[in-house]
Amino acid sequence: MTPATITAMSVAYDQLLDGTIQHLQELKEHGVRFVSLSPETLAGLNQPPVAARARSQSVSPAPPAPAPRPAARPPASPTPILPKPVEQKPPSPQALALPLPTESTAPAPAPALSPEARAAAFADLRRRALACVRCPNLAAARKNVVFGVGDINAQLMFIGEAPGADEDTQGEPFVGKAGQLLTKIIQTMGLTRDTVYIGNILKCRPDTPGQASGNRKPTPEEMQTCIPYLHEQIDLIRPRVIVALGATAVEGLLGKTIGITKLRGQWRTYRGIPLMPTYHPAYLLRNQSLSEKRRIWEDMLQVMEKLGLPISQKQRDYFLKAAG
Ligand code: URA
Repeated sequence: MTPATITAMSVAYDQLLDGTIQHLQELKEHGVRFVSLSPETLAGLNQPPVAARARSQSVSPAPPAPAPRPAARPPASPTPILPKPVEQKPPSPQALALPLPTESTAPAPAPALSPEARAAAFADLRRRALACVRCPNLAAARKNVVFGVGDINAQLMFIGEAPGADEDTQGEPFVGKAGQLLTKIIQTMGLTRDTVYIGNILKCRPDTPGQASGNRKPTPEEMQTCIPYLHEQIDLIRPRVIVALGATAVEGLLGKTIGITKLRGQWRTYRGIPLMPTYHPAYLLRNQSLSEKRRIWEDMLQVMEKLGLPISQKQRDYFLKAAG
């Protein structure tokens, strides 16, 4: 293992640790005094840090062991929450700019929560997100926090970039023109918006001060600030497949990668969950060619295959020239 790899792992480990501490502190602020941990998670927490292990190995044929997962997960026995308050450093500007790994090395998910516990944890997460003012400018400009919509037990999650004006007004993701196209795609897959879960990297509309209309891409700082909510959503839903819609969604979940044109259609992994990068539906609104429609549809066919969904010949042939 090279020193650069060890350094990158060490940074990723520190980021994960900071995120875990922040999450535990938030829980504590909300009156939580115990978190339950599975025996495997406890065993993982007792391991030395990944980088320290890597440093102690002269040759490293095996992949790095997974770093411990934040304690948002289900637990078997209650464990006292942080015995002493831990002083929290704000992330450095360099840390904010650092790309995250493109493939997750996180451990296999811990056992799932009961439906009741999952619903309660999701409701708590939603309440925290709806009250969030971590980005004061976005909080001041928003009409609604757009938390997410769909089935919290869904096998399939679609992740977009950020709410636009329509979503901000209605408090629901993907309800504008691009959203209507996404709804059509979901229906063409034989599913409905109610049977999947739809969310975004950012929960607030990126503000556009001085402009009457228009959207802007979220800044890296906004993404970094908001992404813990999405991580928690994914941790609770535990979908079997994630579809990342467009470059910003991929960047938010996997870190900076090659462009979406090269990336789309190729499976990636987010914390052990298969992730399919594809075009954002807004791109299809701008480019309505049959070939581009077919590309996004081929990505969805791969998703359907991965989920074991039935695929008719008609579905297989959509947007092929011969089929019109
Ligand atoms: N574009 C997105 O990325 N998300 C939405 O919710 C709406 C449009």
